[in-house]
Amino acid sequence: PLVSMTDMLKKAKAEGYAVGQFNLNNLEFTQAILQAAKEENSPVILGVSEGAARYMGGFKTIVTLVEALIEEYGVEAPVAIHLDHGSSLESCAKAIRAGFTSVMIDGSHHPLEENIAITKRVVEMAHAVGVSVEAELGRIGGQEDDLIVDDAEAAYAIPEECKELVEATNVDCFAPALGSVHGPYKGEPNLGFDHMKTINGLVGGIPLVLHGGTGIPTKDIKKAIEFGHAKINVNTESQISSAKAVREVLAAKPNEYDPRKYLGPARDAIKETVIGKMREFGSSNKA
Ligand code: G3H
Ligand code: ZN
Repeated sequence: PLVSMTDMLKKAKAEGYAVGQFNLNNLEFTQAILQAAKEENSPVILGVSEGAARYMGGFKTIVTLVEALIEEYGVEAPVAIHLDHGSSLESCAKAIRAGFTSVMIDGSHHPLEENIAITKRVVEMAHAVGVSVEAELGRIGGQEDDLIVDDAEAAYAIPEECKELVEATNVDCFAPALGSVHGPYKGEPNLGFDHMKTINGLVGGIPLVLHGGTGIPTKDIKKAIEFGHAKINVNTESQISSAKAVREVLAAKPNEYDPRKYLGPARDAIKETVIGKMREFGSSNKA
């Protein structure tokens, strides 16, 4: 069933695992991720960026599709539909009106006071209807859709500011930028574990969120979970595995034209990727 992230993340943090946020890009992503949740008996968060929502036909289309697939597949694990990197109060309101159960307000490009002010307004609106809220501080590098942060702009979250934002806003989970990157890493990721530890100690036990989950080695994933992360976002890795499957089919059969023949294997590849992450994050059989 569709639920907010609040309970699934509280449970994950208490029990020492993380729930994956897997981003939707099209029908096959939606199918693959829900099939994985069913097979693994794992809670799951469906991440929807504003760009992906535009591509897929809007928030309402996505909610309707997800509800129908949950019923069709008989998914009993908790599923959240979450607006990823919401850019404004209006965008969060639109997603909530369409039936999203969770939103992220990404005020990380604003000065702290403004980030707090806009996050607070989103929390008031969302909590009134049982929707959970994620906030961000610092700047996560790399590119995701319309969101581009170059190396010079990327910045670690400041621990004291994290404490201030979390206390002032009453958000349900919190994403401090700590060196993770959207998209593939250039070389090994360099996560700020000292900062992470400090921030985790300052935010009163609320679940932390790790963006840019693609390409982070398992040992770092384990450490991030140990230091308070209960939600890990993955998009690029599923996109890479799906694109690889399409390329393989079309290379082997250059005359193929039936989309089911190349998007079916892409869907299977996404499902395999997602199942691998659920096992790595420890959320399998935690529904
Ligand atoms: O918000 C979504 C993510 O943080 C995904 O990052 O595409 O690098 O896996 P990724
Ligand atoms: Zn992100």
